[in-house]
Amino acid sequence: MEFKRVARSGQVPEGIVRRFYAGEYEFAVARLNGKAYATSNYCSHLDCLLSSGKLRHDGIGCSCHGSAFDLETGEPICPPATEPIKTYPVEERDGEIFVGIAADELPEGPRRRLRRSS
Ligand code: FES
Repeated sequence: MEFKRVARSGQVPEGIVRRFYAGEYEFAVARLNGKAYATSNYCSHLDCLLSSGKLRHDGIGCSCHGSAFDLETGEPICPPATEPIKTYPVEERDGEIFVGIAADELPEGPRRRLRRSS
């Protein structure tokens, strides 16, 4: 696994989620209770961008239809989503946020759109 730098710590203040990239890889990076998290940027319900959503006290909420996900596990904690989102290991050091990407990890995209075009 390789940790890639995605943002400065100051770009992800408490209670905020934003989209960041590491090359081809796209993430929603959030900070909740002081800890930085990285997840897929695509809601498992209908692919809305989670970086356009809002953090809740217990996870990340999608702005489209109200689904929410645990930032640690990616499990859905509020419907209509039933599938988890992918979560990535995060390291924060020297004022920078790094996301762990496995060697065989493929960049995540909107799954429904990818499926349609294949
Ligand atoms: S796309 Fe996220 S709740 Fe529907």
